[in-house]
Amino acid sequence: MSLPLIGSLRHPRVRRWNASFMRMAKNPIVGLSLAGVIVVIVAMTQVAFVVVDHWSERDIELRSSLVFRSIHDSVVRGLADKPQFKLEPYFEELAEDERILALGYCDPEGKLLDATKDMPKSIACPEKGTVRGDNYYRTTYRGHPVSVAVFPLTAKDGGGQLLVLHDLTFIQRRAHEAQLYMALALVGVAVGLGLLGGVVVFVLMRGWTSAFRTAIANLGRGAEGPRHAELPIGRDIESMLAEIRLERRYAHGIHVEWSPDTLHQLLVEELPGSQVMVVSNREPYIHNRVDGEVTLQTPASGLVSALEPVMRACGGVWIAHGSGSADREAVDRNDRVSVPPAKPAYSLRRVWLTEDEQDGYYYGFSNEGMWPLCHIAFVRPIFRESDWLHYVAVNRRFAEAVVQEASREDPIVLVQDYHFALLPRMIRERLPRATIITFWHIPWPNPETFSICPWREEIIDGLLGSSILGFHTRFHCNNFLEGVDRFLESRIDRERNSVTLGGNETLVRAYPISIEWPPAAMEGQPPVAECRRLVIEKFGLRPDARIAVGIERFDYTKGIVDRMQAVERLLEKRPEWRGKFVFLQAAAPTRSKLESYSSLQAEAIKTAEAINAKYGDGDYQPIVLSIRHHEPDEVFRLFRAADICVVSSLHDGMNLVAKEFIASRDDEQGVLLLSSFAGASRELAEAVIVNPYDAQGMADALDSALRMQPEAQRGRMRAMRDLVRQRNVHLWAAQMLLDAARLRRRAALAETGN
Ligand code: G6P
Repeated sequence: MSLPLIGSLRHPRVRRWNASFMRMAKNPIVGLSLAGVIVVIVAMTQVAFVVVDHWSERDIELRSSLVFRSIHDSVVRGLADKPQFKLEPYFEELAEDERILALGYCDPEGKLLDATKDMPKSIACPEKGTVRGDNYYRTTYRGHPVSVAVFPLTAKDGGGQLLVLHDLTFIQRRAHEAQLYMALALVGVAVGLGLLGGVVVFVLMRGWTSAFRTAIANLGRGAEGPRHAELPIGRDIESMLAEIRLERRYAHGIHVEWSPDTLHQLLVEELPGSQVMVVSNREPYIHNRVDGEVTLQTPASGLVSALEPVMRACGGVWIAHGSGSADREAVDRNDRVSVPPAKPAYSLRRVWLTEDEQDGYYYGFSNEGMWPLCHIAFVRPIFRESDWLHYVAVNRRFAEAVVQEASREDPIVLVQDYHFALLPRMIRERLPRATIITFWHIPWPNPETFSICPWREEIIDGLLGSSILGFHTRFHCNNFLEGVDRFLESRIDRERNSVTLGGNETLVRAYPISIEWPPAAMEGQPPVAECRRLVIEKFGLRPDARIAVGIERFDYTKGIVDRMQAVERLLEKRPEWRGKFVFLQAAAPTRSKLESYSSLQAEAIKTAEAINAKYGDGDYQPIVLSIRHHEPDEVFRLFRAADICVVSSLHDGMNLVAKEFIASRDDEQGVLLLSSFAGASRELAEAVIVNPYDAQGMADALDSALRMQPEAQRGRMRAMRDLVRQRNVHLWAAQMLLDAARLRRRAALAETGN
C-alpha cells in the first residue's frame, strides 16, 4: 500500500506540474533570472555588513571620546598630585562597562603607568611625539577585534596619553545579524514578488485559456452569437482562430481530397445554418415530352456539369429557366421539383419565360450580344435596345425569385454567367445582407472590345453588386478590373484585387472551374476495350480504326470546322492514315434559332461531306458527324473509345470537355489535343497544345498524337489525371465558399464593432 502523499505525488497532475517545473528550471532565461536574484542578495547583504560595521565603529569612537572627557578632569587633578595618585580605581570603575576592555595611562615618556588589569600586554604606548590629536586604530586581542583610542593630554594637563580600548566583537555580531536580516528580507521580497507575479500570470493565463477554450469549442460547434458578446477576448480569439483555420484550409485546399463529403463538411463548419442558392439560366434537369412520354434530359452545358455535383453536396435551391416542354408538369404549386429525381438532394425552382422574353433576353442580348462580345471568334456582337429591356426585366424576375426562395435575410447566392450581369445589384438591393458570389463562365474581353457594349456601365455596375466576382483565370480578372477602371468611377484596390463602389466591396478572384471526381458518368462504364468495340459497332467503323473525337455543343467558339480542316491536311500530307484515321464529332445542336449557329452547323456539315468525298472509300468515312444530344454516359463511352480527343476552341473560358476526357481515361491512355485559347490549357500543360487557326500545325499534332507511344501517353495522362483529381469541382466551390465564409465573419465582426 502506498502512502497517500506518495500516491498524490504520482497523480498525473502533480507529475505534469513537476515536468513543467523541470522544463521551466531548464529554461536559460529562468536560470539567468535566478542567478541575478542571488547576486543581488549577496551584494546587498555585503553592503549591510559594511554599513553596520562602519556605523558601530563610529559609535565606539564617540563612546571612547565620551569616556575620555568624563575622566579628563579627574586624571588632570590626579596627575597634579603625583606620585601618590593612582588612576586604576577610576579606570576599573569605568571598565565595568562590558564593551570597554581596558583603560590605561601612558606618561609623557611613553611608558604605561596605570592600566586596568585587562590591558593586553601587546598594547604599547605610542612613541613620544607621534600622537597629535585623537587617534584611533584597530588591532586584535585573543582573536577578538579591538579598537584602541589614544587621547593626548597637554603639557599643562600633565602630558602623556590616555588609552581607551573597546572590544569590537559585538560590532561583528551586529554586522552579521544585519547581514542575515537583510538576506532574509531580500529573499522574502523576492519570493513574495515571484508569488505575486505567478498569481498575476496564472490569473491572466486562466482568462486567456478559458477564452481560447470557449472559442475553440464554439468553432467546433460552428456557433456564432450572443454568448460571445459577453467575452470580448474570446471574440477576438475566435475570429483570429477562424481566420487562421480558413487561411490554412484555403492555402492547403489543393491537398485536401475535395469530395461531396468534405464540401458538405465545409458548409457545416464554416457556414453553419447558411442557405445556398444557385441562379443560372440553364436548368440541371429538363423534362421534355417526346412521343407522348416525359423524358429527362441532362443539358450539354459546362456550367451545369460543374454546378450540379456541387448542389448535390450542398443542398439548397437552384433557380433556373424552365425550358423543357414538360417542365410545368413536373413541378409542384411553388414551381419546385426535387432533384436528382432518382435521389433528391436539392430543390429546382423553375422560372417561366415567355417566348418574347426568351428571344430578347436569352437569344438576343445574352447570345447575340454578350456571348460574341466576350469570345474572340470574330462573330460580330449585336446589341438591340429591345433585347436589353428584356434582359433587364428577366434579371428582375429572377431577383424576385431569389427573394421568394430566401428563407433568411443573408443567403449565399451563387449567380451564374453572362445571362445575369444585372442580378447581383438587384439582389443586393432587396437582400443587403446576402453573400453574392457571381461566377462568369466565359472569358472577359479587354476594355476596347468591352466598350462596344452600349450598356457597359450598367453591366459593370450590376456585377459590382456581388460580394465576390469569379473568373476562370487571372487574365480575365485583370481585363475586368481594367474595364472598371476605364468605365466606372470606383476605387480599385490592386493589392486585394477588389473594387469598391458606393461602399460595397467586390472581391475579384480567379477560380478555375473543374469537374467532379470521379464523374458520375463513369459509374457503370464498361472497360475501355469494350467501349471501343461498342463505338466501332455503333458508328460502323473498321475494327482497326484510329479514332479522334470532338464532343461539344455546335458552337462557333469551339473551332469545329477548323479541326475538320486539320483532318483534311493530315490526310493530304500523311496518306498512310487514309482508311485508318476517323474523326468522330459529336455535336449537340444549340441556340439553333440564331443565324450564326445554324450557318455554322451547315458549314460544318458541308465541310465534312467535302472531306469524306475526297478521302472516303467504300464504307470508310474519315469524318463522322453525330448531330444530336448525347447523354453523359454516351459521351464518356466515346471518350473511352478514343485514341485522341480534340478540343480546338477558338476561345473558351475553361472547357470542361478536356477535363472530362482525362477523367474518363482510367487506363491512362489517350492523347488530348488542346487549344492554347482555352482556359484549360493554363492547367493541363501535359496536353498537346495547338493553335486552332493553324490547320497545318494541328495536322502535325494529330499525326504525332497518333504515333505517341503508350508510355508517353501514360506519363502525360497520369500527370493530368492527378491534377484534375485534386483540382476538382468541389475544390472550386470550396475556394469560393471559404472566401464567402471569411467575408461573412468579417462583416459579423464589423457589425459588433470589433
Ligand atoms: C456555356 C455557358 C453556359 C451555358 C452553356 C450551354 O457553357 O457558359 O452558361 O449553359 O454554354 O449553353 P445554353 O445556351 O444551351 O445554355
